[in-house]
Amino acid sequence: AEPPSRAIPADRSAAHTGRRSFDHWFGEKDRNGFIHRSWMRAQGFSDEVFDGRPVIGICNTWSELTPCNAHLRRLAESVKRGVWQAGGFPLEFPVMSLGETMLRPTAMLFRNLLSMDVEESLRGNPIDGTVLLTGCDKTTPGSIMGAASVDLPTLVVTGGPMLNGKFRGCDIGSGTAVWRFTQDVNAGRMTQEDYAAAESGMSRSNGHCMTMGTASTMACMAEALGLQLTGSAAIPAVDSRRYAIAQQAGQRIVQMVEEDLKPSDILTRDAFANAVRANAAIGGSTNAVIHLLAIAGRVGVKLTLEDMDEWARGVPWLVDLQPSGRYLMEDFYYAGGLPAVLREILPLLKADAITVTGRSIGENVAQSERTVDTEVIRAVGNPLGSGAGTAVLKGNLAPDGAVVKQSAASERLLQHRGKALVFSSIEEYDLAVDDMDLDVDEDTVLVLQNAGPRGYPGMPEVGNMTIPRKLAEQGIDDMVRISDARMSGTAYGTVVLHVAPEAAVGGPLALVRTGDWIELDVPARTLHLDVSEEELAKRRADWQPVTAPSDRGWARLYVDHVTQANLGCDLDFLVGRSGSAVARQSH
Ligand code: FES
Ligand code: MG
Repeated sequence: AEPPSRAIPADRSAAHTGRRSFDHWFGEKDRNGFIHRSWMRAQGFSDEVFDGRPVIGICNTWSELTPCNAHLRRLAESVKRGVWQAGGFPLEFPVMSLGETMLRPTAMLFRNLLSMDVEESLRGNPIDGTVLLTGCDKTTPGSIMGAASVDLPTLVVTGGPMLNGKFRGCDIGSGTAVWRFTQDVNAGRMTQEDYAAAESGMSRSNGHCMTMGTASTMACMAEALGLQLTGSAAIPAVDSRRYAIAQQAGQRIVQMVEEDLKPSDILTRDAFANAVRANAAIGGSTNAVIHLLAIAGRVGVKLTLEDMDEWARGVPWLVDLQPSGRYLMEDFYYAGGLPAVLREILPLLKADAITVTGRSIGENVAQSERTVDTEVIRAVGNPLGSGAGTAVLKGNLAPDGAVVKQSAASERLLQHRGKALVFSSIEEYDLAVDDMDLDVDEDTVLVLQNAGPRGYPGMPEVGNMTIPRKLAEQGIDDMVRISDARMSGTAYGTVVLHVAPEAAVGGPLALVRTGDWIELDVPARTLHLDVSEEELAKRRADWQPVTAPSDRGWARLYVDHVTQANLGCDLDFLVGRSGSAVARQSH
């Protein structure tokens, strides 16, 4: 039978040769074209949507199990409005959502799975460009990683932070208040009734954590990398301006498709340098280190922990937000948000780096507002600190590196020698934390093993171990803690994280024993286990790997292929790009 031809206006078909959605799906004149169009018509679209206009996939990490992303379907409506306005055809689709507070054993176990979902959904469908709707911690890097591997024009719209938390007339920050109040309850400074009251005042609106935790950090990273429109990162989730900028994003992605402006054009080594420097200036999360390494891997940009340490050095710490400082994301937005920060540190940035606006980051920032509140965003001449970003440590305890967030650490512990108290699992530590006879004092170095990417598996946020009750009751609120785990971006303390290689693969962390001396010297960037080579060799010979509990499914694939923290914890076979081409038909 003759295929229907009325759906393919000849004029547009010629004009749009090269548009993948048209050439390989909606513009086809044969049986396959019939199939592609006919079933789409079930949604009530009229003929024009098949005329070769850019199809914009709105890739949505919405889920009611990810409370931080629960409003993203509404935000998608604003993006669609913009796409229609600019002459595109928007199609929203769901991908796996990762809720930091719910998912077990840790959302990080699934970041790469989300990235695969995004990658295959984008490549396998008639999509010319995409808007990634993200929010909660892992949803932003996971979505970006997937889109980068496909390399179609991509624009990120994060969902925005919650309004500031409130408790008894004071602002309280997501996560940060939980860690603090839990310590206060343990130390007898807070009642259970107050603890419960704080719980209901902390999360008052849609949005992600409103501290400078991982979600806010990654929103800022998306903007500093050039993937999100200028000024997007800090707008509260419920502020009308978030919906307005989402509409602008919808308009802009259609133009980006026309311009063929792709992630590989934007995610250059300069873009990563800008992101790392921005992260130091905002006092952002240590998790950004792992996510930036993974994103760089997808686009083939060479990026190392050493680069990140070097780039962060000398960057003034300007943003006084919890967990390192005092304020919250609402305050940050009202004070000028990320553009105000970037404007302050512009001489330290690669100003020519191109962004989704089609202009350079320098041009974007020049058009933005100046800092309006020098308490929340300090001027570059009056920083909260200098070189307070995430430092990379090396030594015989972490041959491939470890990190510590200097702005969240205690000054007095940045150079420290102490005796190790070792726990081989976080469960073992949880059993010991309330023990009033625990052999521990304020100089003890708490060491946690087997919480790395393979060991847990998934590298959970348990590295900021609660201070043992015995010491908390004496008013001690920080100790040196060392592990192969991560910590929440909302957490704080002198916490050495991401030790590589991890204990589960036989890294030196696995060989530490209670009573060993450990030397931490952050200014010198060293982490040293004061045990002789001979003794370590003996222990290594005796070491037995902790068997991974996963014999099938995703966890099995993950454990078999995950890379160490210094390489970004991607799966080894996901590093790189496959592009957007799909050679074969489905029918
Ligand atoms: Fe989702 Fe913090 S729990 S952003
Ligand atoms: Mg987190």
